Amino acid sequence: MKQADCIQKTADFVKAKFSGEGTGHDWWHMYRVWQLAKTIVAEEKEADLFVVELGALLHDIADWKFHNGDEEAGPKAAREWLESIGVQEAVISQIEDIIRTVSFKGAGVASAMKTIEGKIIHDADKLDAIGAVGIARTFAYGGAHNREIYNPTISPERHDSFEAYKNSKGPTINHFYEKLLLLKDRMFTETAKRIAEQRHVYMEAYLKEFFAEWEGDR
Ligand code: ADP
Ligand code: NI
Repeated sequence: MKQADCIQKTADFVKAKFSGEGTGHDWWHMYRVWQLAKTIVAEEKEADLFVVELGALLHDIADWKFHNGDEEAGPKAAREWLESIGVQEAVISQIEDIIRTVSFKGAGVASAMKTIEGKIIHDADKLDAIGAVGIARTFAYGGAHNREIYNPTISPERHDSFEAYKNSKGPTINHFYEKLLLLKDRMFTETAKRIAEQRHVYMEAYLKEFFAEWEGDR
């Protein structure tokens, strides 16, 4: 199969699987990450566009959060799909590796991504977690998991292990401090750093307004 057809088939597969999902991990998240990855790749000339596009589309194919914490579910599901459309082994194992590594695992756990293709997908995924879209996704996730919007008596935590991060059940506003505001300093590529900077400023303004309204200041 031609590369363009593999990408189109993969997009159709992901779209069918994730349409209408309500936690912010829906098809349109995959779509935005795919588009952002293409924007970033334009300035990262040595990256393999085929791996970037397939990896972006498949990065959340079986997220541990929705598979009882199983971190191997994603790589396995991606392999099965890519084998079924006849993608070569070298590309499949690269994408498996990227999916294994892409997830945020807590403030105290460094992001370890080796290849440029992985770094681009990582950055695109993290960009979609911040800014106006990021805010919307975060509250959608919180609501879907029955979390309070905010509770001033529960402080944000710093998670030094993936286990602690996985098990946290705090209010959604805390997620800004536990993850979202940390992301701009964890980007790998220059393009993503630039975009993250703008999205970060927007979130800070949002939080300032949120707390002012909370106390009835305006
Ligand atoms: P990653 O893509 O780095 O693995 P996740 O899938 O954990 O990240 O998170 C993606 C998005 O889901 C977050 O940016 C956020 O919008 C939402 N989310 C995940 N965990 C939480 C949480 N505990 N509270 C609120 N939103 C969350
Ligand atoms: Ni994602």
